[in-house]
Amino acid sequence: MRSADLFDRLAPGYDELLPFFSSFGREIVAVLDPAPASELLDVGAGRGAVSAAAVSSGCRVTAVDAAPHMVELLWREHPDVVARVMDAESLDFPTDSFDIAVGAFVIHLVDNPAAALSEVRRVLRPGGVVAVTMPGPYEDGGRWDRFNALVAEYEARVSTGEPFGRPLDVAVALRAAGFVDVHEEHVEVHLPVESPLRLWDFQMSHGFAGFVESLDHEDATELRRRALAELDRMRADGGIVLDRGATIHVARVP
Ligand SMILES: C[S@@+](CC[C@H](N)C(=O)[O-])C[C@H]1O[C@@H](n2cnc3c(N)ncnc32)[C@H](O)[C@@H]1O
Repeated sequence: MRSADLFDRLAPGYDELLPFFSSFGREIVAVLDPAPASELLDVGAGRGAVSAAAVSSGCRVTAVDAAPHMVELLWREHPDVVARVMDAESLDFPTDSFDIAVGAFVIHLVDNPAAALSEVRRVLRPGGVVAVTMPGPYEDGGRWDRFNALVAEYEARVSTGEPFGRPLDVAVALRAAGFVDVHEEHVEVHLPVESPLRLWDFQMSHGFAGFVESLDHEDATELRRRALAELDRMRADGGIVLDRGATIHVARVP
């Protein structure tokens, strides 16, 4: 399944249950600290987590996503953003169009990351900045260890289709695309969650749903039951807090 097809289906509930991607969007824009009126391209923009934060920082924002439903909702919620349905691997913009390009939680989902990064470099002006964000480490005092071990148990059982998301060395890929000054920033969010079911429903509102859907029906049902039991234990043990981290790979065009 193309990841954009999954996200097209998930669009109505995406980032609605917890302010997860929007929190990371604010963190990413804070790290970039764009100059006022910078022209920023948000690639694989989803419902505009980064776009909204960039507009608040005074950027002129163009957002593209391959999922039409995401683009429709983004445009409805953020009419000040120019939003277009577009494949990251084939950007329909002239060379040297933008000062900043951001790809948040998307580059590992596209079929050909090298093609997407090469397109991003093409549409950035000389000296332009790119920020590619991937899921990253986080400090949780060990409270997610059991949950994560449970998920890993089922990841080993995925029986059908392509894996959802591929491992990618972003720094290497950025250098290969011709970017320089490649470095990393690290950000985290820690969001209180009111109930096990809300956490599970949040999980099923983004890419995790692609993993669960790739399990046999019985395994998927069993994972949900065991995950909810584990989350119940976490709630009794002081409350559920969604701890997650991201690595922002920042680089520039020479
Ligand atoms: C995990 S979401 C991240 C969305 C947004 N950047 C955020 O932080 O909330 C990944 C997004 O990438 C989009 N996507 C996947 N493949 C794409 C492609 N080849 N070109 C453009 N967008 C793509 C999906 O439709 C989805 O909206």
